[in-house]
Amino acid sequence: MAHLIQSVLVLVVLAHATQACVRGFGGGATYDGPGFCNGLQCPNYRSVITVPGKYEQRVYEPAKWVATTVMGLSHDDAAGTGFMRLFNYIQGENVEEMEVEMTAPVAVRTIPGQGPACETNFTVYFFVPFKYQDESNPPPTPTNTDVSIVDFPELTVYVGEFDGRAHDQDWITHETELGDALTELGIAFEESMYYTAGYDSPFKLWHRHNEVWLLPKKSEDSSDTNAIES
Ligand SMILES: *[C@@H]1O[C@H](CO)[C@@H](O)[C@H](O)[C@H]1NC(C)=O
Repeated sequence: MAHLIQSVLVLVVLAHATQACVRGFGGGATYDGPGFCNGLQCPNYRSVITVPGKYEQRVYEPAKWVATTVMGLSHDDAAGTGFMRLFNYIQGENVEEMEVEMTAPVAVRTIPGQGPACETNFTVYFFVPFKYQDESNPPPTPTNTDVSIVDFPELTVYVGEFDGRAHDQDWITHETELGDALTELGIAFEESMYYTAGYDSPFKLWHRHNEVWLLPKKSEDSSDTNAIES
């Protein structure tokens, strides 16, 4: 019994230490997020449940992201265009002319059929580094009017993971698989949109990590599955 209590205490202390470590992150320190973040800062979440081979439910902390929307038909093309806009922002295309650290993942909110010619509305996001998450130190202000800082509320997502190099059809295939798995388990999700999340540079050849995210179906009295533009 004493042993058990001791083990639990050690675990609690360890959990706190890890948390403090993540929260206290400053430039230069080693960030120990999930391995698939490749040592880059990535948003904090807690894993609620994992059903192996089906899905994982995560709850992300409220966070700031930098975002840009691209209308188009191809995920690859839109993600490429959006990526370059955000990359320019972190390279110093902002009022303060400051460089911002690269983070993970590159997330893309995908809303099919929203444009006049049925184009998809792709919004590409970079997570804003932890030092700019605090209200007292806001991220640099984008100069490109197509780029904005958005505040995400706490976000619950159902995650499907896969490896390899993901192209247009791969995202759709895995989004469909995740949706089917959720349906089979009786879990209702928003059908109008999904997110893709890529964690690796184009140069990484092995152990690439990709995710598709679906959001819980909105109840009548809540409307917070979208980011709030600030
Ligand atoms: C993309 O979708 C978002 C969310 O529905 C919307 O606010 C925005 O206006 C859309 N952008 C375009 C160019 O349609």
